[in-house]
Amino acid sequence: SGHITYDPGFMNTAVCESKITYIDGDQGILRYRGYPIDQLAEKSTFLEVAYLLIHGELPSKTDLDAFSARVNRHTLVPEGFRTFMGTFPVNAHPMAVMASAINALPTFYPESLNPFDEETVELATVLILAKARTITSYLHRRRNGEPLLYPDYSRGYVDDFLRMTFSEPYQAYETDPVVVDALDKLLILHADHEQNCSTSTVRMVGSSHANLYASIAAGVNALSGPLHGGANESVLAMLRRIQSEGGDPAAFMNKVKNKEDGVRLMGFGHRVYKNYDPRAAIVKKSADAVLETLGKRDQLLDIAMELEEIALNDEYFISRKLYPNVDFYTGLIYQAMGFDPEMFTPLFALGRMPGWIAQWREMINDPKTKIGRPRQVYIGEVERDYVDVAAR
Ligand code: CMC
Repeated sequence: SGHITYDPGFMNTAVCESKITYIDGDQGILRYRGYPIDQLAEKSTFLEVAYLLIHGELPSKTDLDAFSARVNRHTLVPEGFRTFMGTFPVNAHPMAVMASAINALPTFYPESLNPFDEETVELATVLILAKARTITSYLHRRRNGEPLLYPDYSRGYVDDFLRMTFSEPYQAYETDPVVVDALDKLLILHADHEQNCSTSTVRMVGSSHANLYASIAAGVNALSGPLHGGANESVLAMLRRIQSEGGDPAAFMNKVKNKEDGVRLMGFGHRVYKNYDPRAAIVKKSADAVLETLGKRDQLLDIAMELEEIALNDEYFISRKLYPNVDFYTGLIYQAMGFDPEMFTPLFALGRMPGWIAQWREMINDPKTKIGRPRQVYIGEVERDYVDVAAR
């Protein structure tokens, strides 16, 4: 079978060619379709970035309006689907419910499944972007025993997401423009990140010609792990633990450096970024502003900043090139907005939908794609004869 390269964790193996996202990990550069992430975060909106990632170009005003209207029109979910989501225990982890919901979605839309028909894939794209918003808002509400709220088609994607998540049925709801803007930015920052664990999972599952929903449900599950998207929830747990143990970041950092009980500084380090994660730089600025505006500046932010300060000046972190990643400060913003820690990773997933969709579409349309099928290095027993159970 020729020469096999052993590369655990794919440290050095490219599995595809891609035109979607560019990262220079040494310089801390991130671009979607060539556009620098800071420009998009500053000037664009989440749906516009979704269109850019999926279709390759920024939309004209007409195209963006049509795309937004189409996504809005599909925001409602069938009653049976709502009932299905309602059957999970209220304290179920929302990532498990979210993956199940995305997986179940196409059973209600069997007309959206053909992976080789452009129009059908575009329908599935719009359905996923639209329903993911409804699903995420309901994930929050069902935890408190509250009903799913219906969409208001006249509002924007993020604006109506916040209304559907936090308002009372039939009550007028004014969103705070600072909050809308901050969440829009966060979703943009999470929208794609080339071949990370969840995205390569989406491509791998899709390479068997499994449908877009099945592939993305697998991506949601991959994202749930604490080394990946689950890190944002773990960061908050870590900060709270430090606070409850008397608020001594230096003592915690000693545990990390001594690798006591495998403790890691969550929200730090990255496989590709060996310089500051450019997303983290934007999030940190935003965290400061949002917490100040909402009057929710709390001690956890101080603890986080102290941890960062220690890390940036400590040989352990410097020599390993460990810097804050996108997950380090996001939880503090989500918490100030009113989300429980269990909701942080679903919010990451909501933001990542455009990236997963774009990457799956690029994969399915690339004639060079082959079914994902890694090789292995076998290190088990050599051949031996079966021994009858009585003789073992
Ligand atoms: N705290 C303490 N030590 C660390 C950390 C950390 N967060 N991250 C890496 N190290 C150490 C690690 O122990 C190893 O040291 P040594 O050579 O002495 O054994 C060295 O740095 C290299 O680490 P690695 O595990 O080989 O690096 P990796 O590229 O396989 O892992 C990572 C990358 C992100 C999984 C890892 O840095 C990590 O576990 N970070 C904490 C979890 C986290 O924040 N994840 C979010 C990633 S960014 C957004 C996302 O994907 O969701």
